[in-house]
Amino acid sequence: MVTSSQNSVNRPLLGVNVDHVATLRQARGVNYPSPLEAVLLCEQAGADGITIHLREDRRHIQDSDVYEIARQLTTRLNLEMAATSEMLSIACEVKPFWVCLVPEKRAELTTEGGLDVAGQITHLKKYINELHAAGIKVSLFIDPDEVQIAAAVACHADAIELHTGTYAEVGLAGDFDAQNVELQRIKQAVIVTKNLDDKLLINAGHGLTRDNVKAIAQIDDIYELNIGHALIADAIFVGLSQAVTMMKTAMYE
Ligand code: PXP
Repeated sequence: MVTSSQNSVNRPLLGVNVDHVATLRQARGVNYPSPLEAVLLCEQAGADGITIHLREDRRHIQDSDVYEIARQLTTRLNLEMAATSEMLSIACEVKPFWVCLVPEKRAELTTEGGLDVAGQITHLKKYINELHAAGIKVSLFIDPDEVQIAAAVACHADAIELHTGTYAEVGLAGDFDAQNVELQRIKQAVIVTKNLDDKLLINAGHGLTRDNVKAIAQIDDIYELNIGHALIADAIFVGLSQAVTMMKTAMYE
């Protein structure tokens, strides 16, 4: 059973993605800043979980980061990865609390679009079975789309993570009508999920900032928000601990 520090007024948990600490390190090919140090600081500052994405091209997080972070973190590790055999072996060895399966394209700047679960149910069912057999819970990063939600239920996922990238992008472009349409789409996806399977946990993430997070954090039944880029960007100016505090304030105020 997944325990939750959510309270009765629906305060989603904050999972902090520290990939961008590794991005900065890899830009110089040196051994600083340390993603592990970032993890420990975020946890001290109140992060409820930690996300890292081990990409096939190892552009930021490296295998050694995954092992060290898994060994030393005190909250829960959410390992984002593509559903490949290489990643399955690593996950089964590391045994993070969560694996979040994401689509991956080599040329993309960041994860673009959700996983097409409906188009690969047979593969994903088998893949998720193997992760479950290793004692790992599985989340699927999907667009807020009814067909994908139903497919996630059919694959026996433990959670979905709703892709908030479009919601964030149109807001950044100043198109608040379009952002509201996206918000309604995400709210509808939460209702659909609850109706299909009320045990499936619902996370959300991608592109969330202190300016746009509140409307998402206020949606009933969202379990956790996974936030990276904007929080690490805040940390440049205010430090990592303060950036975590500020994001939590923006979520709950
Ligand atoms: N959730 C998933 C599945 C992601 O791939 C990412 C980006 O790595 C995030 C959340 C965090 O997105 P951002 O860095 O834009 O906050």
